[in-house]
Amino acid sequence: MQNIIISNDLSADMKRVLEGKNTEQIFILCDENTARLCLPRLLEAAPQLKDRPVKVIGAGDAHKHIDTVVEVWRWLQEQGATRWSTMINLGGGMVTDLGGFCASTFKRGMNYVNIATTLLGAVDAAVGGKTGFNFNGLKNEIGVIRESEYVVEDTTFFCTLDRANLISGMAEMLKHALISDEQRWKELMAYDMDTFDLKALSPLLEKSINVKEQIVAEDPYEQGKRKALNFGHTFGHAFESFTHEIGRPALHGYAVAWGMVAELYLSYVTLGFPKATLLEATHLIREQYGKLEFGCKQYDHLYELMTHDKKNVQKGEINFTLLGGIGDIRIDQHVSRQLVEEAFDYYLG
Ligand code: GLY
Repeated sequence: MQNIIISNDLSADMKRVLEGKNTEQIFILCDENTARLCLPRLLEAAPQLKDRPVKVIGAGDAHKHIDTVVEVWRWLQEQGATRWSTMINLGGGMVTDLGGFCASTFKRGMNYVNIATTLLGAVDAAVGGKTGFNFNGLKNEIGVIRESEYVVEDTTFFCTLDRANLISGMAEMLKHALISDEQRWKELMAYDMDTFDLKALSPLLEKSINVKEQIVAEDPYEQGKRKALNFGHTFGHAFESFTHEIGRPALHGYAVAWGMVAELYLSYVTLGFPKATLLEATHLIREQYGKLEFGCKQYDHLYELMTHDKKNVQKGEINFTLLGGIGDIRIDQHVSRQLVEEAFDYYLG
């Protein structure tokens, strides 16, 4: 399993991460936001990194591109990195995915450490070894699955995030609770998403990451059980693409939260998922994430977007991960088009 450190003392934990490493062979990757907002805190906690080279890449998905990969490879080469070097990726999912890919391919693979600076990244992208970049209009089209040596998570980095980004990350935590057990779900229901106390979040984050860790340990290459992590994402990706098309891009977690409402409905109709939990989740998600506005005229297009999502389509059929109950994961489920439309109706309420 990956070494995942939920840190309460970044200084001590960075000492542990850096132990036995030649500091001269450490390279730091940031984006323009984390260079400004997070790097000073890292260097304060780990002063031995103060003189190490830092590469700053553009922030945002548009930079998750082969040109940035080439830029990072070139920088590593110019800085004299070797197969025994370590790259520290300080950032959200874009930095950890792209940095993980660069490290995994440079000189046939050097170690890397992910320090997650967003809640969404901490709970999802930084863990589990998926790395890569977008190519030819498709997200994460090129990449490898190769785990980082360490993942360091410190909720104090999240104090620079606005509420929208915090609840975007929380959506993946809600997903982890739904695919694991009642206890986790109840604990999250009891968490106050209005005040978002980061200290109180830390133990919940740890439990949430454990869910992903266990699943990845069982199925690192997504042959079966790892598909559970796609819960909410089949409708979610269609909703996300739709918001981009209409020029009002939603944060990933919002789209996943909306997608979970529709997929919980399908779970209820086809597998007897408990109605009370469906209603509880629907209420929470509507309250916290609002609702994407669309009408029945858009159903055809949304359905088409679902059929074009390579991640969730196999042999021409849309593949859902659904739930028979909390923690009762059913992968590779198929439902009729009519039921998908019913789920849109339910979503729109
Ligand atoms: N983000 C889903 C996974 O890592 O499999």
